[in-house]
Amino acid sequence: MIISFVWAEDKNHIIGKDGTLPWSMPNDLKHFRNVTAHHTIVMGRKTYESFPNGPLPNRLNIVISRNTKYEVPESVVLLSDKNKLSNYVKDDEEVMVIGGAGIFEMFKNEVDRLYLTKIDHEFDGDVKMIDLNYDDFKLIGKKEGVVDDKNIYPYTFETYDKI
Ligand SMILES: NC(=O)c1ccc[n+]([C@@H]2O[C@H](COP(=O)([O-])OP(=O)(O)OC[C@H]3O[C@@H](n4cnc5c(N)ncnc54)[C@H](OP(=O)(O)O)[C@@H]3O)[C@@H](O)[C@H]2O)c1
Repeated sequence: MIISFVWAEDKNHIIGKDGTLPWSMPNDLKHFRNVTAHHTIVMGRKTYESFPNGPLPNRLNIVISRNTKYEVPESVVLLSDKNKLSNYVKDDEEVMVIGGAGIFEMFKNEVDRLYLTKIDHEFDGDVKMIDLNYDDFKLIGKKEGVVDDKNIYPYTFETYDKI
């Protein structure tokens, strides 16, 4: 199993505010959709609840909660830890871990690839990305985002592979 992290952070590594994203960046959501399409996504219960329209379509949604009675639709898998993940994911599959902080922490020692959107702005927030040691990763792709009237902050898409 290949484990990838997918997230967007600001200059101070802020990723969340009041249960949602601190910014509106439709181009990053499009990027997120493309990167995760047809891959299993793994997320914490709060990130799952942050989706306005429920589980994301065209991919298996796995939600992690300590509450084993947490109710999810039939199409969604609920896990209380990562140990049973291999029951749902093939050996050669790339799994997209999409946060939040506790879930990134859970997979920190196994992550193989990073898909990071860096937003060049400072936001107020209450959730930060965990510390990652970038010496362990190699930048393999970098692309400037298009700034326009709907995506007003400069941003860069970066991809890293574990060395
Ligand atoms: N910018 C980005 O790319 C990005 C990405 C993801 C999320 N976000 C933002 O970040 C915020 C949500 O992140 P968050 O860190 O607060 O919450 P989260 O990780 O999405 O969810 C936290 C919940 O996950 C479960 N959990 C966490 N650690 C666990 C463990 N070790 N074992 C079992 N269950 C565990 C618990 O659920 P129970 O309480 O049900 O037990 C916990 O309350 C939102 O604002 C969201 O919009 C941003």
